[in-house]
Parts: sequence; C-alpha cells; structure tokens
Amino acid sequence: MSLRTCSARLNAVLRNQSSVVTRTIRRQYASAATAASSLPAGLKEAIDKEARLSNPDPQYDSQTARLVDAQSPFMVPTYVRPPPMFQQGEGCYIWDVENRQYLDFTAGIAVNSLGHSDPEVAKVLYQQAQTLVHSSNLYYNPWTGALSQLLVEKTREHGGFNAGKAFICNSGSEANEAAIKFARKHGRSVQSDGSKFEIVSFHGSFHGRTMGSLSVTPNPKYQKPFSPMLPGCKYATYNDMDSINELVTEHTCGVIIEPIQGEGGVNVATPEFLLALRKRCTEVGAVLVHDEIQCGLSRTGKLWAHCDLPAEAHPDILTTAKALGNGFPIGATIVTDEVSSKIVTGDHGTTFGGNPLGCRVAHHILGRLAAPELQAGVLQKEARFREHMSRLHQRFPKIVQEVRGRGLILGLQLSADPTPVVTAARERGLLIITCGTNTLRFVPPLIISNEEINKGMAILEDAMVAVFEEPGHIEGTDGQQEMR
Ligand SMILES: Cc1ncc(COP(=O)(O)O)c(C=O)c1O
Repeated sequence: MSLRTCSARLNAVLRNQSSVVTRTIRRQYASAATAASSLPAGLKEAIDKEARLSNPDPQYDSQTARLVDAQSPFMVPTYVRPPPMFQQGEGCYIWDVENRQYLDFTAGIAVNSLGHSDPEVAKVLYQQAQTLVHSSNLYYNPWTGALSQLLVEKTREHGGFNAGKAFICNSGSEANEAAIKFARKHGRSVQSDGSKFEIVSFHGSFHGRTMGSLSVTPNPKYQKPFSPMLPGCKYATYNDMDSINELVTEHTCGVIIEPIQGEGGVNVATPEFLLALRKRCTEVGAVLVHDEIQCGLSRTGKLWAHCDLPAEAHPDILTTAKALGNGFPIGATIVTDEVSSKIVTGDHGTTFGGNPLGCRVAHHILGRLAAPELQAGVLQKEARFREHMSRLHQRFPKIVQEVRGRGLILGLQLSADPTPVVTAARERGLLIITCGTNTLRFVPPLIISNEEINKGMAILEDAMVAVFEEPGHIEGTDGQQEMR
C-alpha cells in the first residue's frame, strides 16, 4: 500500500468529523496501525505524524483539496498558497474548512489588528450597509469627511506630523500611487519645467504592485516582467547617509520610505537616518513620504511609527491602509496643507475610495486603535514576545540570530530557511509568515493575550525542534511572504 493510499484511507475515516473527535480517532487509528509490525517504515512514520500533529496539512484527497482543485482553474495564479483553506475567524483564531483551529500570528499580514470577526466592527458594517454603501465621490456623504478629520486630528494629537488633509482610497498600493502623484505635482509646482520628477525609494522596501508603487519597490523579480518602470525612480540604501546625499538631488520630487520595512525583513530605520533624510528632502525641496501601511496604526505602540521621532524628522505625506479597515479594503494618503495646496480638482480620483461603508468602519476602527490602553498593551506584549524569543535564542544559538522591530511588528532572524518552520508550525496549529531573507515575521492582532502569545510561542518552539533537531522530513511551503 502506498503512502498516499494509506493517507487517503485515513482521511476517508476522518472526513466530516469534528476536530476533537477527529484527533482522537486519528490517534487511536495511528496507534493501532503503528502496532502492526508489517507496515513499511515510511508508512508508519506518516501515520505517526498524522497522530502527533493537531492540524496536518490536508491531503490530496481531502475535502479541502477537492475544493481547491475545483476552484483554482478559475483563479489567475498570482500566489502560492499552503494546503488549508480558511473560512472562519474569531479573535486571534482562524478555522479551516475542515474545522481545524489555528492561532494566527499573521493577522492577514498586519491587517486584523482588532482580531477576526470583531463584533463591534461587524455591527458598524451591518448598520452602515443598511443605510448607505456608496453614492460616489461626485456627492458628499457624512463619513469620508469624518474619517479624514479623525485621521488628521489623531495624527496631530498623538505627536505625528503636521497633517492637514486626507485622501481616502481602497488599498495600500493606491495610497502610495496617490503619494507618488502628489509628489510629482508638488515637484512641478516647485520647478515648472518638469525637471523635478525623480522619486527615491529604498532597497528592501515594499510599496505595492501597481505600476507606480511597483516602480518604487526595487525587487528585480517583481519589476522585470513589467519593465520599463516609471521614469526617474532611484533606489538608495536603507540607513545609509551617503546613499541619500548622492541620490536625493534637485531633480528629486519625492522620497518614499517605510520607517520599518515589513516585507523586506522587519528592518528599522534609525532615528538619525530619518532625521538626515528629512533634512536632505528639505534642502532639495522634495516631499518626504512615510509608508506606514504595515507598521502604522499603533502596531509599534504609537499611533504612527514616526510619532517617536522629533518634529524635524517628520514626513510631508503619510500612507496607511491594512489595519485601517481590519480587513475591509481601505487606504488613505494623509498630507500637509502645503502638499494639498498643489492638488486641484481633477488631479486624482477614485470610484470606490471614500465610500460611506468603508469610511464609517475605518472611523470606528481608528478610534479604537488610537486608544492609549491598546498602545500600552502592545508594548507589554512586545516584551512578552521578546522573552520567548530570547529563550529560543538560548535553545537554538546557531539558528536564532537576532530580533528586530518594535511593538508587534517583530522579525526573528534565522540563519536557516524558515519555511519548514512555517509548515511545522501550521501543522501544529500556528500561522506565521516570513519576510526578508530567512526572517520569521510576527504581526499578530494587537488584541492578542499573554496566554495566546505563550501558546503560540510554545508551538513555534515545538516546530523549531521538529525542524532543527529532527531534520530531514519537513518541507517548507513557498509563498508565505509578498516579496522574495
Ligand atoms: C509597507 C507596505 N506598503 C504598501 C503595501 C501594499 O498594500 P496593498 O497590498 O494593500 O496594496 C504593503 C503590503 O504588504 C506594505 O506592506
């Protein structure tokens, strides 16, 4: 009997069972099966594995695989996905279609900061959906303005930059597209001959997939198939003063930077570098854009990552998205009044951006994410994560190299490929993603409890033991990060 056939039988027995019952049956079946000495070694190992793991990846003949096989022929293959299919979430947990529960350290890539299926968010969505979903930007509605005002006021109140106005859109890429266009327009207003059009961004950054945001995301793998990029994009080295002095010139209309690079590996820009960058932008009359799409909205324990910086380092434009809708697609480009003064009617627009449904839900979410108690909790939880990470460092001194990040955007730098750890963690009930080169990324919901952190880190440790202390049999799953 082949390994696949055995697994097929196992799955047939277990199909449609609740997860607890499933696990019990799996264990009983496994111990009976392994007791049978006639089984080949590989098969025994496969059965043992199914018994040990709470959430073994669905097999080729599972209910999940059948659904995937039926649906994927209709989907443009833009992502590599691991086998489970998720259908339900609550708080920091998410369940797959086979009713298996996973603790979620990914929050949908730093999106579900208030957790999955938050009841208050659901209520606001429901109420507004019954009231008015969309009326277009050709007319006023009460919520686009209310959200814009709250973004501006909260930014100022929390020690952020001199925000004046906001443009509401639907995603992070679109927020950056608007920022790039605003920088171009600003450059043209400073230098009417059109020579001030260059945009400087940084190696290791990720700003999105649309042509403008991709043009400032210097990853050859993502840019090359779609070249040529926007003219005038230059790429500097993160945290390198010489690099910005060389590339940010009189021709530069804008510089875009993530104060903490998410996809690039949870790399943190130093305050000195951000200060020098601001100074250089001011010298040459370029606008400075902080992309806080991943690191903003209290993920660092401050409303924005730049709130920790002196005013002399603050940006002219800030882009946000992800957690702003807790899963509802929405983004915003917040600008100073000076930048806004260069934008006139017709310069930019969107059909869906600023619709009452999205804006009302984001208005609710922003109020909650800006709460001081939530921000204090983020710092306390960071400390808890770091304690666990230093224990992992002690246990795997050759593998765990460094912890980077702030608040609940943390990166654990490994000396080895982390993708088998991602698989092993998932099969033990923890979702975690990677970033940069060999970095495990921790961007959990900001409402995560200490118990959930302890539980998740215990699963992670188990997974690391399985991968690094019993090596050879766990394969990594590709595609657990946007950029590689
Ligand atoms: C820092 C940063 N900017 C921009 C984006 C693009 O956002 P979206 O995927 O919503 O277009 C992302 C997405 O991962 C991001 O992390």
